Amino acid sequence: MKPKNLRNNKKSAGVACRILVIHGPNLNLLGKREPEVYGTMTLEEVNKALNAEASQWGVELEILQSNYEGEIVDQIGRANGRFQGILINPAAYTHTSVAIRDALMASNLPAVEVHLSNIAKREDFRHLSLTAPACLGQISGFGKESYLLGLQALTRFFRSRAS
Ligand code: DQA
Repeated sequence: MKPKNLRNNKKSAGVACRILVIHGPNLNLLGKREPEVYGTMTLEEVNKALNAEASQWGVELEILQSNYEGEIVDQIGRANGRFQGILINPAAYTHTSVAIRDALMASNLPAVEVHLSNIAKREDFRHLSLTAPACLGQISGFGKESYLLGLQALTRFFRSRAS
C-alpha cells in the first residue's frame, strides 16, 4: 500500500527526497512521434502524471528534457548534493552513450532507467543499454506507467535504505 506521505519516513531517516527526472532526445515530440510505438500522450501529460505520483509519495521532482548529450551529462554531473536519485529515459542515448553512463556512475546517485516501449522487443540495436548497468534497474514497455513504476521503485528503494 502506498504511504500517504513519505515525509514521515524521510524525517525518521533524516533524508529529503528530491528526484531529478531526465527525458532524453526526441521525447519532447511525444504525442506526435510514432504514436503506434510511443502512444498519443504528450510529454506534458507524462510530467503531470509524474508530479501527481510524486506528491502521493511525498517526493519532489525536477523535470528536464534535452536533445543534447552534453547537457544531460552536465545535469547529471550537478545532481549530487541537490538530488537523492535520478529517474532517466535516455531515449536514443541509451544505446550509444558511454558519456551518460559514466556521468551516472560518477554521480554516485541511485538511478532508475525507464522506457515507454519494450526495447527488448524492438530492433536489435535497441536491445543493448549502455546506461542501464549504471542504474539500480530498468523498467521498459509500459508506456507512461514505466515512468510511474520507475518513480515508485526509487522511492521504495529510499524507504528500504532508510529502515
Ligand atoms: C525509448 C526507446 C529508445 O530506443 C528510443 O530511441 C527512444 C525512446 C522509449 O522510451 O521507449 O527515443 O527510450
